[in-house]
Amino acid sequence: MSEKQAAIDLKNITVAFDKKGETLTAVDDVSLQVKRGSIYGIVGYSGAGKSTLVRVINLLQRPTSGTVTVSEQNLQKLSDKKLREVRQKIGMIFQQFNLLRSRTVLNNVEYPLLGEKISRAKRKKKAQELLKLVGLADYASSYPEDLSGGQKQRVAIARALANDPDILISDEATSALDPQTTDSILQLLQKLNQKLGLTVFLITHEMQVIKSICQQVAVMENGRIIESGSVGQVFARPQQPLTRDFIESAANVTQMRQQIVDDQLRENLQPNERLLYLKFSSNATSESVISELTAKYGIKANILFANVQKVAQLSLGYMLVILSEKNGKIQVGIDYLQESGVTVNDLTEQKGENANAS
Ligand SMILES: Nc1ncnc2c1ncn2[C@@H]1O[C@H](COP(=O)(O)OP(=O)(O)O)[C@@H](O)[C@H]1O
Ligand SMILES: [Mg+2]
Repeated sequence: MSEKQAAIDLKNITVAFDKKGETLTAVDDVSLQVKRGSIYGIVGYSGAGKSTLVRVINLLQRPTSGTVTVSEQNLQKLSDKKLREVRQKIGMIFQQFNLLRSRTVLNNVEYPLLGEKISRAKRKKKAQELLKLVGLADYASSYPEDLSGGQKQRVAIARALANDPDILISDEATSALDPQTTDSILQLLQKLNQKLGLTVFLITHEMQVIKSICQQVAVMENGRIIESGSVGQVFARPQQPLTRDFIESAANVTQMRQQIVDDQLRENLQPNERLLYLKFSSNATSESVISELTAKYGIKANILFANVQKVAQLSLGYMLVILSEKNGKIQVGIDYLQESGVTVNDLTEQKGENANAS
């Protein structure tokens, strides 16, 4: 990506805090580029350094080392006045909305414009337009306490857009919301991205959020980016165990794994049975491959769990299945699965501790 295409360009960012005489490296040599007009997501558990990294983008947190370039300007070289101008073009939303309780919804959205050279009438009109854009035209005179969580976040989004930012940063903005409301807020962010050309940089601890609207993703652990790429690429071929964990929990595979232990599936297998965990990607659809197993090889497939998720035009399937066959020819079927592009994990032999002890 050329410098010009990058809305955000971070190079070798390290943020170290002094904690009672010890150094805590919250962000550790992170480099990333966010293409203008794209939606870029960072996923990581609590404490990974996501919020610290996000605060570096507008220099609310100055990095210990590294360079911060936003819209082709090295922010560390700007005067305070210039930096304030750049910051106005970076909107931010948070998990806890941060609305002013004593002001109406309209006044909350107007708030960032109070110090600006703009007439009262224009300011009001701008705020009304933004409320319309986020679907809250009828709530201008309401107070934050009268709104649901999703509506509060919409007000916060409208307020973040008051200065016509180029970039919107979302720090766990949907983390306090139920799944349905989360979806509607993500759809809104996507609409703003498409309609206004807004670059969205979002951080989350939920892979589900990444999956639904991001184009690029980076996985963060202990201050470092351990894996990154297009969402399709990372979901189809995760390289790091943590990335796999995030993806599998988004597809409910984690619960499935627990089910195997709880139901003692391995312990109850017959000698002619194999317990397999299969992963399908677009080129091998689960239905055709499984029916082929039966038709061609006479192998019975008992599907215990199956989930297909659509990610960036790819369909990715996860399946837990018990294969059984009378004449000891199961391996032929497993070879067939692998030749068809299915990733096969044989769970049959991975007995629990109890089994080993007996
Ligand atoms: N201002 C600060 N002073 C000292 N330590 C901090 C400060 N801000 C964050 N940290 C520490 O940096 C680490 C990363 O925190 P944070 O960026 O908030 O992670 P995340 O947003 O991924 O949960 C944590 O260990 C946190 O305690
Ligand atoms: Mg955080």
